[in-house]
Amino acid sequence: VEESYIMIKPDGVQRGLVGEIISRFENKGFKLKGLKLFHCPKQLAEEHYKDLSSKPFFPKLITYITSGPVVCMAWEGVGVVASARKLIGATNPLQAEPGTIRGDLAVQTGRNVVHGSDSPENGKREIALWFKEGELIEWTPVQTQWLVE
Ligand code: GTP
Ligand code: MG
Repeated sequence: VEESYIMIKPDGVQRGLVGEIISRFENKGFKLKGLKLFHCPKQLAEEHYKDLSSKPFFPKLITYITSGPVVCMAWEGVGVVASARKLIGATNPLQAEPGTIRGDLAVQTGRNVVHGSDSPENGKREIALWFKEGELIEWTPVQTQWLVE
């Protein structure tokens, strides 16, 4: 099954947008498998964003992600990775379409409130990185038959 690691960044938590952001994924019909409030250590932030380590904004990005609690989530569903990226919107919130999370709720790339995995492989990699065994729950939502024919 396809999974995406979705994370509400410290600005989303500080701005009281946790419920609003979780609702977007719940309402769409994806299945929540893992959820926790977590203060990310520097080492984990660096590992998560290692592909960006040569970018000039990398130190600022690490400071941002470790600046307060984040909400870590594992979401499952057919096509969840690409769909979540659409729900989230463009990296730069000023370019993100209205109706998307960043398009509706943010104004700057450096404060873009939410992360979403960019491929199914990275979805699996990131969920393994951010969650321990026992923190992910297997369950069957009763609404499944009303979402998928
Ligand atoms: P994520 O879902 O968070 O991975 O965002 P993304 O996939 O839309 O963008 P990308 O992976 O390229 O960059 C990761 C994160 O780094 C972005 O979401 C921003 O928070 C931050 N970032 C990217 N580019 C810039 C930049 O030019 N300036 C600053 N300050 N931050 C940036
Ligand atoms: Mg990315």
